[in-house]
Amino acid sequence: TNVSFDESALANFVEPNELNEIKPMLNTARDELVNGTGVESEMREWLTLPKDYDKEEFDRIKQAAKQIQSDSKVLVVIGIGGSYLGAKMALDFLHDNFYESTPDDQRDFPQVIFAGNSISGSYVHDLVKLIGDRDFSVNVISKSGTTTEPSIAFRIFRKLLVAKYGEDDAKKRIYVTTDAKNGALRKEVAANGYESFVIPDGIGGRYSVLCPVGLLPIAASGVDIDELMQGAADAQDFYTTKPLTENGALQYAAYRNILYRKGYTNEILENYEPNLRFLAEWWKQLAGETEGKDNKGIYPSSANFSTDLHSLGQYIQQGMRNLMETVVKIEQPPFDVDVPKTGDNGDGIEYLEGRTMNYVNEKAFESVILAHTNGGVPNMVVNVKDQSAYSLGELIYFFEFGIAVSAYLNGINPFNQPGVEDYKKNMFALLGKPGYEDLKHQIEINAAA
Ligand code: PA5
Repeated sequence: TNVSFDESALANFVEPNELNEIKPMLNTARDELVNGTGVESEMREWLTLPKDYDKEEFDRIKQAAKQIQSDSKVLVVIGIGGSYLGAKMALDFLHDNFYESTPDDQRDFPQVIFAGNSISGSYVHDLVKLIGDRDFSVNVISKSGTTTEPSIAFRIFRKLLVAKYGEDDAKKRIYVTTDAKNGALRKEVAANGYESFVIPDGIGGRYSVLCPVGLLPIAASGVDIDELMQGAADAQDFYTTKPLTENGALQYAAYRNILYRKGYTNEILENYEPNLRFLAEWWKQLAGETEGKDNKGIYPSSANFSTDLHSLGQYIQQGMRNLMETVVKIEQPPFDVDVPKTGDNGDGIEYLEGRTMNYVNEKAFESVILAHTNGGVPNMVVNVKDQSAYSLGELIYFFEFGIAVSAYLNGINPFNQPGVEDYKKNMFALLGKPGYEDLKHQIEINAAA
């Protein structure tokens, strides 16, 4: 495998018997997931998706990506939460650090920019300015089709498309990813003949990156999505069958729950590469929505190193001892740069001449694990061979599988998110959406009391 789990820094935090003690419960949780005997098992279509997806649709995604590449300088991807974070994470992970801001004449593929993931008017204003008079297309992604943020953004960018290209040609630049049958967007597809893709019923937002939700933006940006799916398919074979002793995703689920039960209630996902920042944003939704309910669950947070060692590092070293850390470590970063020889030592780093930045980064990683474990923070490491599409496919599956097992292990339904829906309903009521009058009334009564 290209992904491996390393628990060696847990020696002072977990006794050898603890893994054996949790093993029967862990295997039960795994069986619930793999055999579909757990609660809400109809929502685990992502589990077999890498090997069992709609091949005709997959080809249409590739064709749509080619079309966008040929007629657009910018692809605006509209979506929020699970309809946004996976694609953003994958694009950052797979492209160079400045892919979003590379000028058109220096790029082979369209600039992919995300919208509809906040309610900021300034953001949309600035994005419209950035697009300027360049050709663009829109991929609007929403399973429900009723989420406020993407709905507003879609209205704005559809209007821009119509103004620029006219009603008929605008339709050819709109790609819709939504539910197979339900929702406002599906109706718009039927009415306007937009090219459209399906978010399968059994796949919730946070598990959707390998379905059209993630695949179209990823393919449009020039990534080989066959390679991505192959990594995930091999991971499916591996993680759904291998026993605990060989299975890093199960080990991850086991150790983070052993630690959670000792009071390490907050997990920080960390990296040493800036373009992994959104890996953590994606993982925070995956873990937070999967496990944070019934008044329990590990609180997922993130830090980006070495940057945050100069800010959050103080808290991690000496603050409350309820933290555990999981480092996602890239074994072979795509590039490296030498520390230059200058012939003087005014900056005091002559001793690093002849070394590379990746070497220094590696030493930072080793030093932090030593310091933080000495400071009472247990550390786990997820090693990833490289930043290829294949490795990312495996890494996505590793976390999806590990976190879902973890939820069952902790007696939690991994696949609902009633808390997210609460906020959406309240916002509809406060904004005066038709059909939410009773809730609005109830909120007003509660506020007056
Ligand atoms: O997991 C969730 O339910 C949310 O994060 C959703 O993915 C997000 O709210 C977007 O929902 P939709 O795709 O229906 O617009």
